[in-house]
Amino acid sequence: MSKDDCRQIFKSGIGDSLGIGSQNISLFWKGRVALYAILKAIGIKEGDEIILPAFTCVVAVNPIIYLGARPVYVDIDPKTYNIDVKTLERLNVETLRKAKAILAQNTFGLSSDLDAIFEIAKKYDLFVIEDCAHGFGGFYKGMPNGTIADASFFSTQWNKPFSTGLGGIAVTRNPEIAERLRGMEETFIKPSIKDEMVLKTLFFVRDRLGTKLYWPMIKTYRWLSKNNLILGSSQGEELKRPVKPEGFEKGFSRVQAKKGRKELGRFDEILEHRKKVTTFYKKILLDMGIEPPYEPDYAVHTYLKFPLLVKDRMGFFKLAEKEKIELGDWFLSPIHPITKNFELWHYRWGENPVAEKISQHIVNLPTHLQIDEDYREKIAKFLKRNRRNIYSSFVNVRT
Ligand SMILES: Cc1ncc(COP(=O)(O)O)c(C=O)c1O
Repeated sequence: MSKDDCRQIFKSGIGDSLGIGSQNISLFWKGRVALYAILKAIGIKEGDEIILPAFTCVVAVNPIIYLGARPVYVDIDPKTYNIDVKTLERLNVETLRKAKAILAQNTFGLSSDLDAIFEIAKKYDLFVIEDCAHGFGGFYKGMPNGTIADASFFSTQWNKPFSTGLGGIAVTRNPEIAERLRGMEETFIKPSIKDEMVLKTLFFVRDRLGTKLYWPMIKTYRWLSKNNLILGSSQGEELKRPVKPEGFEKGFSRVQAKKGRKELGRFDEILEHRKKVTTFYKKILLDMGIEPPYEPDYAVHTYLKFPLLVKDRMGFFKLAEKEKIELGDWFLSPIHPITKNFELWHYRWGENPVAEKISQHIVNLPTHLQIDEDYREKIAKFLKRNRRNIYSSFVNVRT
């Protein structure tokens, strides 16, 4: 089967899941590349401003800066970990007038309150882009995440709702934006044979990686990719300064499309599993007198990660590592995983007290397919042993 056939079949699968035509979908090497392409397609240029939540991954900030635009951070709602619409409304009118777009994130699989965001966007003539890196499979008021805003993107990187190793999917219902995206999809550089070989090798290793090896493997993988020794999701420079890496504008490979078709085929199983694990965690927390994560009526939360707020984050991680408990660190700073030189990303510490506070207390429990019944019990025992280190409610960590 040709590369184009493979990609087309994968696109049709995505289109069927989202209820949109495959002409509305373009595929890129990573989610961040899809975001970059969307920003270009809506005409973002030097000096423009883009509003986004102060609780995100730095790789979602970089494309804004690569285009010469400036990120404007807005604090988050401590219940949803998404942009706080009240804070957004209170932004300086000049800032709102100057801005070109708002990025509405699906943090951990929960959609932002889009209608409230659309209202502001309409008033100030802003594009709304959904960052659905965490949100494939979720819904906002009955509509699939990624099909509601002017344009959206998904990530299919290793630890996303379903994985093609690395991958980005741009979606829009706007025919002009769709055409521009298709143009970039065609002209961006093609992944090399080496890129494809490395991805295949990583699939092989990853498929055999159990939860026991989580801590040593994650450390090795992060070190290798930081030092550009492996095809990691973030290459060294991206985490040091927002300068577009060579070869950033890259398309989607046949290897990714083939893997994507397979993973999409078992997506319902993945989603069902996450639901089961999440129901278990919620029950455990309630039994311990801890408030489970908030689920607003407007959304179906898919729990890519299950957030928990702890008092001594470092101590909690150390214990988890010692006891071989898989624990996620999203997001350890308002622009994860950046902990210094914030000014390079136009971030001023102190501006977003809720996000800053939460990033110092949040940990996340895994919900993926390898979290079987035994492992869930192990996590439950760990949580019970460390009950005193867990906040009972998000209100406790309010500033
Ligand atoms: C919120 C958010 N947006 C965007 C991205 C970028 O996705 P990718 O790694 O596919 O470039 C990530 C990656 O982890 C993310 O967490």
